Amino acid sequence: MSLHARSVALSIGTPAELVDQVAGELVQRGEVKVAAAERILKQFRRAEREDSTEQLPVEAAAPGKVVLFGEHAVVYGHAGITASIDIGLKVRLSHDPDGPRFLQPRLTLECPGADCDIDMRRFSRAVDAALEQYGLSHEPLAIEVESDLVPGMGLGSSAAFSTALCRALRRYARGGEDEDTGEGLFAEVQELERIFHGQPSGIDAATVISGGVLWFRKGPPREVLPIRLPRPVAGMVCIVEPGARTIELVRQVAHSRELDQARTDAILEEIGALTAEAGSALGSGDYVRAGMLMLRNHEALERLGVSTPRLDEAVELLLNNGALGAKLTGAGGGGAVVALVEPEQLAGLVRSVQGSFLLAYPFELGSY
Ligand code: PMV
Repeated sequence: MSLHARSVALSIGTPAELVDQVAGELVQRGEVKVAAAERILKQFRRAEREDSTEQLPVEAAAPGKVVLFGEHAVVYGHAGITASIDIGLKVRLSHDPDGPRFLQPRLTLECPGADCDIDMRRFSRAVDAALEQYGLSHEPLAIEVESDLVPGMGLGSSAAFSTALCRALRRYARGGEDEDTGEGLFAEVQELERIFHGQPSGIDAATVISGGVLWFRKGPPREVLPIRLPRPVAGMVCIVEPGARTIELVRQVAHSRELDQARTDAILEEIGALTAEAGSALGSGDYVRAGMLMLRNHEALERLGVSTPRLDEAVELLLNNGALGAKLTGAGGGGAVVALVEPEQLAGLVRSVQGSFLLAYPFELGSY
């Protein structure tokens, strides 16, 4: 094949994997010219698109998450412990000749009293960035989202959205072969998470991608290790009040650290030490100890200035009604609390406290 034909193909921006085909076609037609190369490339692209749209609709899902230990401290290199929850979010790609088009997400859980407005501007930016990541910015796609997660409550709705979207687009772009649960997918999800959270530690993305109960340290090197629970234990997420934005709370902690680094670092280190102890307690099935450590973690977050009076009251209410431990979960400033519960106490706890929260849902740790 002539070198000239290859350089004409390259000059119009033909992707590396199509250069030989475009150049070959130019030679065969005996017309080694830019205009001909552009026509040929367009035909290849159209054929490729028809191939990929054949597999539509494509669906992908991702779970929500709670932080059991270590939020904020993870940003400063300490470990955190998280669990995925068995409610989540689904992304569906279907054919839309006028696409790509991002439809208003559907939220399935009514949460009266919470500000459930989703930040469409950020979600749209994330969709644009994701399409670009996979070279799909001009695809005839409609992108639909159906979510059981109440947004803005620290339940990982942006990480679940980013993960389900990346999974669906990967599947579409690679003809069904997507299943990367490792580094590649993590980096792509983090790219979108930055649009929502600035400089996230990666704890949300890692949890939502892997599922289960996880030990996380951002590193480098990053540690993402499953924690195996020797016997079942239940959790309960309670939505207490509208939450603040994660990025603002993370900034608030950074600001406190500027004002008094020694004090802030001491609290963050204390949280790191509690988390390390909690890892052993959970791994050995000592849930009474894990619950007690959760409460101490909550008190440390209170001193860090990210709790609110209503979150503190919620923790107390849960403890008074049989929870082994409870704490705020996520960035704080409002949002949700999570409790650890012996499975046989769960039904009673739900009955006693349900009316006190905007929403309360039990889950089994590590079940997703
Ligand atoms: O996304 P949220 O609100 O669950 O917060 C994640 C945990 C933080 O430590 C507060 C932020 C981070 O990037 O790790």
